Amino acid sequence: MNRVRTLVLDEVESTQDAARTHAAMGAPEITAILSFNQTSGRGRQGRTWASPAGKNIALSLLLRPAVHPERGALLGMLASVAVMETLADLGLGLNLGLKWPNDVLCSNRKIAGILSEASIHGNRLDFVIVGVGVNVNTRAGEFPASLKTRATSVYAETGRMRDLSTVAELLIERFTGLYDQALENDLAGVARLWEQRWVHKGRLVRRPDAVGTAEHIDASGALILRDERGKLLRITSGEAEIVEKIDTGAGA
Ligand code: BTN
Repeated sequence: MNRVRTLVLDEVESTQDAARTHAAMGAPEITAILSFNQTSGRGRQGRTWASPAGKNIALSLLLRPAVHPERGALLGMLASVAVMETLADLGLGLNLGLKWPNDVLCSNRKIAGILSEASIHGNRLDFVIVGVGVNVNTRAGEFPASLKTRATSVYAETGRMRDLSTVAELLIERFTGLYDQALENDLAGVARLWEQRWVHKGRLVRRPDAVGTAEHIDASGALILRDERGKLLRITSGEAEIVEKIDTGAGA
């Protein structure tokens, strides 16, 4: 039985908001809100997520897993694994990997981003909306100037367009399979699955509050850094930019 109800919207401001409306009306999991024309997409950390009309996938998945709220972040990670596997299965030889917390990279540029929003009541996870934006047919010249060196798409990498409905369908199917499997174990295996695809393990990471070597990902999806004194730091939100060398401010 297909347990996903997919609603395709010709145009939407944000599939996240549409999914939230459905959640408030009591929609069951898995409700998928899909659009190829999202006009006010939202990104992580209050950023916007821009996408030219008709070029890319905007998908929000309404989930109601019976797990502890602390495990909610793992769902975004699971979605990034699903995106990576879906893109790999296109057979185009894309050089894919994951960046903490849940970006999908292709040749070191971002090809997909994930925004996970949870509704928690007390000790209970009411629902999670996992929003997935995948750059499929955007041309290199269509990315905003600020993203030109940091973003990419399937088309920009390969010169080949893909049918958006087909890719979205494959992605939903892949996510559902991984989700059902992960739930058998209360999402306990997700961090390991994610870590196997992590491209920055062992690299030097800089954040406004810390610098350290990317050590591992703990069971709830937090990034564990080791600072220069050997102390372990647990990072649960924000970004983790990679640096080649620590800038000490000293001249050459
Ligand atoms: C990021 O900042 O990397 C996350 C981007 C998430 C974008 C997706 S597109 C579908 C869903 N709807 C939104 O408004 N945002 C997410």
